[in-house]
Amino acid sequence: MAFTPRVFSGIQPSGDLHLGNYLGAIRRFVPLQATHETIYCVVDMHAITVWQEPEQLRRSTRELAAAYVAAGIDPKKSIIFNQSRVHQHAELAWVFNCVARMGWMARMTQFKDKAGKNSENVSLGLFAYPSLMAADILLYKATHVPVGDDQKQHLELTRDIAQKFNNDYAASIAAEGLPAEFFPITEPLIAGPATRIMSLRDGTKKMSKSDPSDQSRISLLDDADTISKKIKRATTDPEPLPSELKGLEGRAEADNLVGIYAALSDLSKEQVIAEFGGKGWGVFKPALADLAVTVLAPIAGEMQRLVADPASIDAFMADGAERASAIAEATMKDVRQIVGFIR
Ligand code: TRP
Repeated sequence: MAFTPRVFSGIQPSGDLHLGNYLGAIRRFVPLQATHETIYCVVDMHAITVWQEPEQLRRSTRELAAAYVAAGIDPKKSIIFNQSRVHQHAELAWVFNCVARMGWMARMTQFKDKAGKNSENVSLGLFAYPSLMAADILLYKATHVPVGDDQKQHLELTRDIAQKFNNDYAASIAAEGLPAEFFPITEPLIAGPATRIMSLRDGTKKMSKSDPSDQSRISLLDDADTISKKIKRATTDPEPLPSELKGLEGRAEADNLVGIYAALSDLSKEQVIAEFGGKGWGVFKPALADLAVTVLAPIAGEMQRLVADPASIDAFMADGAERASAIAEATMKDVRQIVGFIR
């Protein structure tokens, strides 16, 4: 059966937003508004799978919502809301906890990486996290989810959960007169190249909020001067830019800066190399700094303006939650019926 083309994505409000979050996720959300129904969530329930200071969580939630809007997501066109406000996410996640198998969860590489040797002492929520993510997506019967590489496995699990739910409850779904494919098998929208943004200090490490060096990342709230300085001080090798893409191999820092230029200008890395091949850092870094300031400084300014007026953020998130709830409740009504809950 035909599902409405609908995009869902979520980002955790768990700390400072940086260029990696913008280029890898938020920027890619914007154009989808023209072709799909779009739902962009601030996944505060995912954030608390690891400890969050309550006041900081509220601040980060508003900041991320502000970043969505500042980057060009229109809160009237798209649905923007924080996850905890729509209780059906928790409700469906429980049902999915009973559909998903322990073995599926135990294979999640992100859990293994995050828990490390400490797996006896992390929250149960961290283990069950992918089941909540599946609920986020399937509550809205989203057909497409823009995800980075690190979330591909979680999206495959979402598809497995949808499939198993559709199969396990096939008779009940039919008895309710509902389509056999009750939940869609959601497709990932995989990021193109140049969306994995690395540290400005070490091109082999992902740009991260947990890096102790502030110079390693560009925060979405940095002003023009700070953005420009961080780029000009970025670690590089002494060679000029290569004249072919292949020449970036083994040059992690050069590759990263070319990738950032490409992503900020919506060009391919080939096109960037065609323009700057053979030029030195004394030419490329100032050009990149100017480009970054042109794109990012207005976003930072708009974010600052919005976070100074938290009531305005709360207002559009409340409106988003109301529109999200209408869709979510329609799905949950059927799910309760399918599973056999009396209401
Ligand atoms: N797990 C995602 C991350 O950490 C965030 C997320 C939660 C998400 N629910 C989602 C992403 C639904 C896409 C769709 O990045």
